[in-house]
Amino acid sequence: MFTNLFILVLLISFPDLPSSIKHDTETDHQAPIAFKAEINDPLNSLISWNSSIHFCQWNGITCARRHQRVIGLNLANQNLTGLILPHVENLSFLRYSPPELGSLYRLKVFAISRNNITGPVPSNFGNLSSLTRLYGGSNDLTGEIPGALGSLTRLELFAFGENRLTGLIHSTIFNLSNVLVFDLTANQIQSTLPPDIASTLPNLEFFSVGINLFTGSIPISFSNARKSRYLHVGYNRLSGEVPSFSKLNKLTVLALLGNLFDDLSFISSLSNATYLASLGMDDNNFQG
Ligand SMILES: *[C@@H]1O[C@H](CO)[C@@H](O)[C@H](O)[C@H]1NC(C)=O
Ligand SMILES: *[C@@H]1O[C@H](CO)[C@@H](O)[C@H](O)[C@H]1NC(C)=O
Ligand SMILES: *[C@@H]1O[C@H](CO)[C@@H](O)[C@H](O)[C@H]1NC(C)=O
Ligand SMILES: *[C@@H]1O[C@H](CO)[C@@H](O)[C@H](O)[C@H]1NC(C)=O
Ligand SMILES: *[C@@H]1O[C@H](CO)[C@@H](O)[C@H](O)[C@H]1NC(C)=O
Ligand SMILES: *[C@@H]1O[C@H](CO)[C@@H](O)[C@H](O)[C@H]1NC(C)=O
Ligand SMILES: *[C@@H]1O[C@H](CO)[C@@H](O)[C@H](O)[C@H]1NC(C)=O
Repeated sequence: MFTNLFILVLLISFPDLPSSIKHDTETDHQAPIAFKAEINDPLNSLISWNSSIHFCQWNGITCARRHQRVIGLNLANQNLTGLILPHVENLSFLRYSPPELGSLYRLKVFAISRNNITGPVPSNFGNLSSLTRLYGGSNDLTGEIPGALGSLTRLELFAFGENRLTGLIHSTIFNLSNVLVFDLTANQIQSTLPPDIASTLPNLEFFSVGINLFTGSIPISFSNARKSRYLHVGYNRLSGEVPSFSKLNKLTVLALLGNLFDDLSFISSLSNATYLASLGMDDNNFQG
C-alpha cells in the first residue's frame, strides 16, 4: 500500500520520468476513459470502469484469482451502442504485449452479445489465443469475418448470429477444430460450405448458418458429423442432394427449409434419429 502511494506521488511530482515508466501508467488511466468515450452506455454499465477501483472489480471483468489477470470480459445485454470492438485492443489492462504486463492473450471468454455494437470484427481478435468462447451475437456488426480468427485454435464457441456480416467465410474459420457451437444465423453471408467440413470441424454439436445467402450444397461429409444435435441451414440458396444423416443419432433439430433442395431420399436416413424433435423442410423443391 505504502509503495503504491509512493509511486503515485512520484508520478505526480515528476512528470518527466523516463517514458518507458510513464507510458504504462498513463495508458492504464486513459484507455478506459477513451474506450468509454466511444460508447453510448445508457444503463451506466461502465460507471465502474474508472481508475479509482482496480480493473478486476470493474463490471463485466473476471480476473484469475492468482496474479489478477483478466480472463473474462462480459458486457452482454447492456444496451451498449457504438464502435467498440476496434478500441478493445487499446484497453491497456488487456494489452497483448509485452506478455508479462498484458493479459490479452489470457482472455478466455469475450461476450458482447445483445447490444447494438457497430463496425467490423477486428482482425486482431485473432491474437486472443486463449479464447474459448466468443459471443458476438445480436449486434449490428458489419463486414467480413476476418480470416485471422482462424488462429483461435482453442475456440469452442463461435457465435455471431443476428448481425449484418457479409462476404465469404474464410477456410481458416471452418478449420476451428475445437468448435462445438458455430452460430452465424441471420446475417448476409454469401459463402459455400467446404466439402471437408466434418473433418475440419470434428466436434460440431450446434451448427447454424440459417438465414443467410449460402449457395452450393450440404457437403456429403456432414454424414459423419456424428456429434451434431442442432443443424440449421434453412433460408439460404442451397441446392442439390441432401446427404444421409443415418450416423447423426443425437440430432434434435434439422432445419432445411427455405432452400432449393429437390431430393427427398435422405428422409429414410433419419429413421434412427430418435431424439429428433423438429424437422423443417418447407419451401423447397422436394417432390414425391
Ligand atoms: C468509479 O466506480 C465506482 C464503483 O462503481 C463508482 O461508485 C464511482 O462513482 C465511479 N467514479 C466515477 C468518477 O465515475
Ligand atoms: C434496452 O434496449 C431495448 C431495445 O431497444 C429496450 O427495449 C429496453 O428498454 C432497453 N433497456 C433499458 C433498461 O433501457
Ligand atoms: C490505439 O492506440 C494507438 C496508439 O495510441 C493508436 O495509434 C490507434 O489509433 C488506437 N487504435 C484505436 C482503434 O483506437
Ligand atoms: C439498435 O439500434 C437500432 C437503430 O438505431 C434501434 O432501432 C434498436 O432499437 C436498437 N436496439 C437496441 C437493443 O438498442
Ligand atoms: C495481432 O493481430 C494483428 C492483425 O491480425 C497482427 O498484425 C499482429 O501481428 C498481431 N500481434 C501479435 C502480437 O500477435
Ligand atoms: C487447418 O488446420 C491445420 C492444422 O491445425 C493446418 O495444418 C491447416 O493449414 C489449416 N488450414 C487452413 C485452411 O487454415
Ligand atoms: C438404424 O439402426 C439399426 C440398428 O443399429 C441399423 O441396422 C440400421 O441400418 C439403421 N438405419 C439407418 C437408416 O441408419
